[in-house]
Amino acid sequence: MTAALRLGVLVSGSGTNLQALLDAADAPFTVVVVGADRDGTGGLERATARGIPTFVCPVAGFDSRADWDRALARLLAEHDVDLVVSAGFMKVLGPAVLAAHRVVNTHPALLPSFPGAHGVRDALAHGVRVTGCTCHWVDAGVDTGPIIDQRAVRVEPDDTVESLHERIKTEERRMLADVLAGLAADPSWR
Ligand code: GAR
Repeated sequence: MTAALRLGVLVSGSGTNLQALLDAADAPFTVVVVGADRDGTGGLERATARGIPTFVCPVAGFDSRADWDRALARLLAEHDVDLVVSAGFMKVLGPAVLAAHRVVNTHPALLPSFPGAHGVRDALAHGVRVTGCTCHWVDAGVDTGPIIDQRAVRVEPDDTVESLHERIKTEERRMLADVLAGLAADPSWR
């Protein structure tokens, strides 16, 4: 049997996508470390509850963004991760992380539409009838890397940003676990 894919998961918020990975039964991947850019997040609590090592690496703790980037790359490497998952991590990753690690990101819109920090709000404001979520490789741009998978979600007439985001996240959690299982099964990306 091949060893499980060792994941380093980066979070900034509640961490329900992380939870889906922690709960995936018989998955061919395992979360070996969870990192955040700020303390006191639900994502860190979820990891701690499972006894998974965590770290906090805030941009404000460094003299420059480049120093922060190098520190983040090192913290992930210390845990010997095969793949980094940006799961609600609200910072743009820098060249040191991207040189040292392959990174996949999950985004709550159908890229290339509505990139950035407000994908759900922007899609709703535009009046689209269908939106969804995207899992993609991370490159130097903002939500621009090659798309791995997408799932569609209909916008209902009475949707708010919150109600739409909850339905997107239901699909997103399934998509992310499916994508990672697929990457574990086909190591050609390594
Ligand atoms: C997810 O919907 C993720 O796509 C989004 O943050 C949410 C995190 O939810 N990320 C972005 O918007 C990045 N641009 P979670 O903390 O419950 O997993």
